Amino acid sequence: MGSSGMLARRVVETEMPIMVKMQELIRGAKNAMSLAQGVVYWQPPKQALDKVKELVWEPSISRYGLDEGLPQLREALKKKLCLENKLHKSSVMVTAGANQAFVNLVLTLCDAGDSVVMFAPYYFNAYMSFQMTGVTNILVGPGDPTTLHPDADWLEKTLSETKPVPKLVTVVNPGNPSGTFIPDPLLKRISDLCQDAGCWLVIDNTYEYFMYDGRKHTCVEGNHIVNIFSFSKAYGMMGWRVGYIAYPSEVEGLGAQLLKVQDNIPICASIISQHLALYSLEVGPEWVTERVRDLVKNREIVIEALSPLGEGAVQGGEGAIYLWAKLPDQYVDDFKVVSWLAHKHGVAVIPGGACGCPGHLRIAFGGLTEDDTKAAAERLNRGLEELVKDGMLE
Ligand SMILES: Cc1ncc(COP(=O)(O)O)c(C=O)c1O
Repeated sequence: MGSSGMLARRVVETEMPIMVKMQELIRGAKNAMSLAQGVVYWQPPKQALDKVKELVWEPSISRYGLDEGLPQLREALKKKLCLENKLHKSSVMVTAGANQAFVNLVLTLCDAGDSVVMFAPYYFNAYMSFQMTGVTNILVGPGDPTTLHPDADWLEKTLSETKPVPKLVTVVNPGNPSGTFIPDPLLKRISDLCQDAGCWLVIDNTYEYFMYDGRKHTCVEGNHIVNIFSFSKAYGMMGWRVGYIAYPSEVEGLGAQLLKVQDNIPICASIISQHLALYSLEVGPEWVTERVRDLVKNREIVIEALSPLGEGAVQGGEGAIYLWAKLPDQYVDDFKVVSWLAHKHGVAVIPGGACGCPGHLRIAFGGLTEDDTKAAAERLNRGLEELVKDGMLE
C-alpha cells in the first residue's frame, strides 16, 4: 500500500480525542452548560496581566527564546521547586503546557514497542501520548475500589513479572479524572518500586495547589523521577500554554535529549506567556490557594447534584477539580448517557470510558462560578433523577 493509503487508514482508525468530541457535542446541544472541561473560571492575576501588556512592543517578545525557557523564569521556578515542592536536585525546562511536557518525556524516555504503566481511571491525554508515540503495550493497573489509589501491590507484581521491564510508570497527583490524592507514603512506595525495577516514574502535579480538607500535596525526588507542573489551572492561564518539567540534574544526557525534542516541537514556549508566568509567580501561591478554597462550595453543589446515583456512587474530589461517579450498572455505554444529558438536559460531563472505565462520569467543578455551577448542577440533578427513574427518555 502506498504511503497515502497508510495515512488514510490511520486517520480512519484513530478515534477523535475525547475533548474534541466533547466540543462537538457541546456545540450541537443548544445552550449546554459545561461541567466537562478541566478548567478554572478565573483569569490570571490582574497585576501580572497589566505588566505583560506593557511588554508587547519589546523586540525580544517576538523572537525565539532559549529552548529551555526564559532564564529569569527558570531561576524563579527553581526557587519555587525548592521552597514549595522540596525538589532540590532538579533542573527545569519550560514547555507549552503540561501536556507538551508529557509528550516531550514520552518521546525522550520511551521507544516504540516499549511497555509503560498507568492506573485506571487514567488521564486520557497521557494515554493518547503513549499511543501516538508508538508505545504499544500500555499496562493499565487498577485503583483501590474505595479510594481509587493506584494499587501498589499490582505494580510490584507487574514490574517484577513484565519482561523487558516497563520503561515508565506515570501517575497524576491529585488525579485527573478522579480528583484522588496519592498520600505521601504511597507515593514513596511507588517511587521505590520504580527505582528497584529500573524504570522511570513521571508524576503530573498539574493540580498541586488544588487540595481540600486540610490535605497537603507532596513531591518525591530521585534520579528516576520526573515531575511535571502547569500554570494553566493555578493561575487561570489555560490559553497561555505554560508548564514545566523538573528533571533530575544528575542524569547525564537527559537534559540534552529533552532539548532535542523541545527544539522540534515548540522550539520554546511562547515568550510573552513565559513573562506572564513569571509575573504570576511573583504574585505568589496564596493568590491561587485563596481561589481554590472557594471551589469547595462548587464541589459540594456538584456532590449534591449527583445524589440520585445513590450512596457510594461518588468518589474522589480530595483534590484537583473533579468528581468521579458510577452510573447504574445498565449504563456501560456512558457516552450515550453523556450525549443524552447534553441534548436533553443541557449539561455536559465526560464519559468514564475515555479514562478506561466505562459506566462512569467525570464531573469538573472548577470551570464555572458558584452561581453558574448551581445552574449546571440543577440540570445534572434533573437529568440523573430522570435517568435513574425512567431511563433515557427522549
Ligand atoms: C493531569 C493534567 N495534566 C495536564 C493537563 C494539561 O495542562 P496544560 O494546560 O498545562 O497542558 C491537564 C489539563 O486538564 C491535566 O488535567
